[in-house]
Amino acid sequence: MTSYESAREEIKRTADIVELIGQYVQLRKAGRNHVGLCPFHAEKEPSFTVSPERHTFHCFGCKKGGDVFSFWMEYHGATFPEALRDLAERYNITISEGFSRTEEKEKSRKREEIYRINEAAAVYFQKSLKDPVKGKAARDYFRKRSISEEIISEFRLGYAPDEWGGLVNTLRGRNRELSGAVEAGVIIPGKKGGHYDRFRGRVIFPIFDLRRGEKVVGFGGRVLDESLPKYLNTPETPIFHKGKSLYGLHSSHSAMRETGRAVVVEGYMDFLALRGHGLGEVVATLGTALTSDHIRKIKGIAGEAVMVFDPDEAGVSAVLKSLPVFLNEGLSARAVELPGGHDPDSFVNTEGLDRFRELLERAPFMFDYYLEKRLARGKGDVEGKVQALKEILPVLSALRSAAQRSLYIRRMAERIGVREEALLSELRALGKKPFQKGTGRDLKERSLPQAAGKNYGDLQLLNLLVHHPDVASRLIECGSTILISDPTVTQIVETFFQKYRENISVSPENLENDFESEAARIKLREVLVGRSFYSAGEVEQAVREIERKAYQRRLSESLKMAKGDIESLNKLLKLKAQGPVRSERETQGRGR
Ligand code: GTP
Ligand code: MN
Repeated sequence: MTSYESAREEIKRTADIVELIGQYVQLRKAGRNHVGLCPFHAEKEPSFTVSPERHTFHCFGCKKGGDVFSFWMEYHGATFPEALRDLAERYNITISEGFSRTEEKEKSRKREEIYRINEAAAVYFQKSLKDPVKGKAARDYFRKRSISEEIISEFRLGYAPDEWGGLVNTLRGRNRELSGAVEAGVIIPGKKGGHYDRFRGRVIFPIFDLRRGEKVVGFGGRVLDESLPKYLNTPETPIFHKGKSLYGLHSSHSAMRETGRAVVVEGYMDFLALRGHGLGEVVATLGTALTSDHIRKIKGIAGEAVMVFDPDEAGVSAVLKSLPVFLNEGLSARAVELPGGHDPDSFVNTEGLDRFRELLERAPFMFDYYLEKRLARGKGDVEGKVQALKEILPVLSALRSAAQRSLYIRRMAERIGVREEALLSELRALGKKPFQKGTGRDLKERSLPQAAGKNYGDLQLLNLLVHHPDVASRLIECGSTILISDPTVTQIVETFFQKYRENISVSPENLENDFESEAARIKLREVLVGRSFYSAGEVEQAVREIERKAYQRRLSESLKMAKGDIESLNKLLKLKAQGPVRSERETQGRGR
């Protein structure tokens, strides 16, 4: 084993996969496994399964799965070396570098460089804010907006002086590659050569992510006056994706977990004001519409989102647009419309947090809010109602849960004043939409083989092998592979046998890496996290059944081939004399 392989094994042994994934996905115990809503695709019934025994997770919906490293890579968009390093850090395990594939290494190196540049830039912005002369206007600005010293230091707020080369010169002075800083988005190459600072004359909000809490992934910057653009962000970089980022999540997730909700606001200042007043469970989108990426992050941590957006046209429209996304992701959501033209920042600063909390408690469900808004827009006339229906019905028809759908239909029928049946038939007309795609079957059913049809025997064999690996030698002996019809299963079983011959103890959960084929990995995981078809007492009977079937199959195949051929007939007689158990080698040598 190389040193990185041993580190990988040590991390796998140390990491509690339920605890680790539980930080990002709300899991509940279901038998020996834990289940939750998959963070990788939209779903409302949990098919995301974590097996602590197998150190494996698997989603029966989107088929993603694997070990702690696979989870980390998929969830954080990290490469394998990055996942290895992150998790090693987390579990205090030392690793030596120099193990990964070149392109992964290059990718990681680049991202690491961007992290370093961002850190240097953040330090520069913080210093500038503290500068007695240069930073004065910015400090005044924060004071004017009631941002405290504590908040400034906790969120590492800073200032980019109104200069073209402040950061460029600082980075140069530290021998940082300017090309790296261009990739990090903090400086921009000039048209006639040279470089200049992206952020000038702006207060700076460093953005942190969930993967490495304390590390800066990007920046937002706001002008001190009314000039435009008001805000500027780091562009998309290998570590910064605006549509996926939630400002403040790195510091809010524990409060979100405790309270079970996330208060979602639009801006940096709203976030900081609420946090300054003591609200823990708050996050901000970076001025973009709420995406399913945002919602998946939230729903892994809290059971409900409360959107508090500005009362202006854009804010209301953002709330309305988010309803379908919430419905699709199955996260319960409510909406707060602030009175008196306030945004969250000005509201909490004038009315206080208690008043704000009252509004949160009283917030209507997003669906009801949506209905009211849509109907109000149409001034209650028939046209308005038709318009509202046109918008909402497709959303409802996309709902996978029939129960939810009929609930909303009833509410809407009551509110609009039409018969429920009329809405239902409209819905049916809309159609054979993809809402049947996700199966409503529960996990237990899904891991059972009834859906496998003619491949039932394959799954029996695989299940037996995975859950009772000690029977491997007998399954090899009797040439059981002859019974398999699905080539993917053949591949898994033969690999298993191969390993078994090399090294008597095979742990099925470590086989995954032996397969190039995704289909094989998926099939193996489904059996791994699923339950055993056979109790300990039934294993013997199952093995005997397989032995008998394998024997009969060989017999009938030989018969087919025989067709009067004397040599084959002899072989056949020999076979018959031998009885059910034969060595696999002989079996493989059969025919042709
Ligand atoms: P203040 O005026 O400082 O209170 O800001 P705000 O947070 O109230 O801003 P607003 O409601 O106008 O916008 C909400 C969020 O949208 C901001 O925090 C930014 O993330 C984003 N945003 C607003 N204006 C711009 C802009 O001009 N460019 C970019 N890129 N983002 C913006
Ligand atoms: Mn504001």
